[in-house]
Amino acid sequence: MNYAQRNPIPIPASGAFSSVKSTIDTVFDWKYALEQQNLLALYEKGKAASWNATELDWSTDVDIERITAQRQAAGGGGLMNKLLSPPRELSEREAVELNLHMNSFMLSQFLHGEQGALVATAKIVQTVPWAEAKFYAANQVADEARHVEVYHRYLTEKLGISYPVHPSLGVLLDDIITDSRWDVTYLGMQILVEGLALAAFGMMKLMMAEESLIQDITTRIMADESRHVAFGVISLDRLYSKEMTSKELAEREDFVIESTHLLRDRLLMHQVFERLGWDVDVWVKWASDTPFMQGFRQMTFSKIVPNLKRLGLLTPRVREAYGKLGLLRFEHMKDSVEEPEMSPPQELVQLLMQFLAQNAQAQAATAGR
Ligand SMILES: [Fe+2]
Ligand SMILES: [Fe+2]
Repeated sequence: MNYAQRNPIPIPASGAFSSVKSTIDTVFDWKYALEQQNLLALYEKGKAASWNATELDWSTDVDIERITAQRQAAGGGGLMNKLLSPPRELSEREAVELNLHMNSFMLSQFLHGEQGALVATAKIVQTVPWAEAKFYAANQVADEARHVEVYHRYLTEKLGISYPVHPSLGVLLDDIITDSRWDVTYLGMQILVEGLALAAFGMMKLMMAEESLIQDITTRIMADESRHVAFGVISLDRLYSKEMTSKELAEREDFVIESTHLLRDRLLMHQVFERLGWDVDVWVKWASDTPFMQGFRQMTFSKIVPNLKRLGLLTPRVREAYGKLGLLRFEHMKDSVEEPEMSPPQELVQLLMQFLAQNAQAQAATAGR
């Protein structure tokens, strides 16, 4: 593992290192009952499915200028203007740049989220009571180190545009790490952060369709992440619906609602508009209100909602908060036990296809004149 950090990741204003105190109970399982067959099966699957970053084709030439030029030539700017209804008409180049910066921002947050997953899952190794869950968590920790490595290499050696951790993601990761209750680590990481990532990865594949290296990276990481989310769903099975007092359950509801707002805020992407030198207030308001961006944010919850429902956490309070955010339409989708793999959100595919078809028609009409 040796690569050139041509474009180092920008350091956040808070500094290059940050530390948070957490007080946890580390649990030994001297019984080794190993009764939970579904966790043991996942552990076997995880070991067999392991891959190495060296298997990726790092000789791929990722040239952001060339991608920009190609997208401009294909009329991508016009498409973005139609799709996004921006607060002012963007030039072809601006529109393509906005799209690429949004992708780079997303990829950077994936990197930082992966580091969060690495640390949070290491904590699960210590805190979860059952040996078989410790086994799987240890396997996941190795996956996460590889994910950090791969995204870091892609961003610094290949893509050349990257962003520091978004403050809201930073706060959420701190919350997950500092909480002493083992199930809350799972709830925050495996159900919320990784559930969101799984849906967002599907969108990344669509948005960067012409770039083969990120396609390969995303496909491999998605396969790992679907196991990680399943790990959370299996481990928390019955805990909330059967074993908690109403006070304990209310605390989990609070955590879900607060974390959901933090996850949503980071998708307003104010750092992108700052970097582009655009009016941040105008553009954050746009990101908050425009239908495409709202739809995009909502779709990142398409795996979280059915999983919360399976765990018995789509309670009246959570339901009310999710209803306000327009997220309840995902409640009938398949959860991570019914459908471990994640396909790209159909709504987004349809929306993109519709616009592409319109664009092709418009081009044909212009050519026919
Ligand atoms: Fe990961
Ligand atoms: Fe993960």
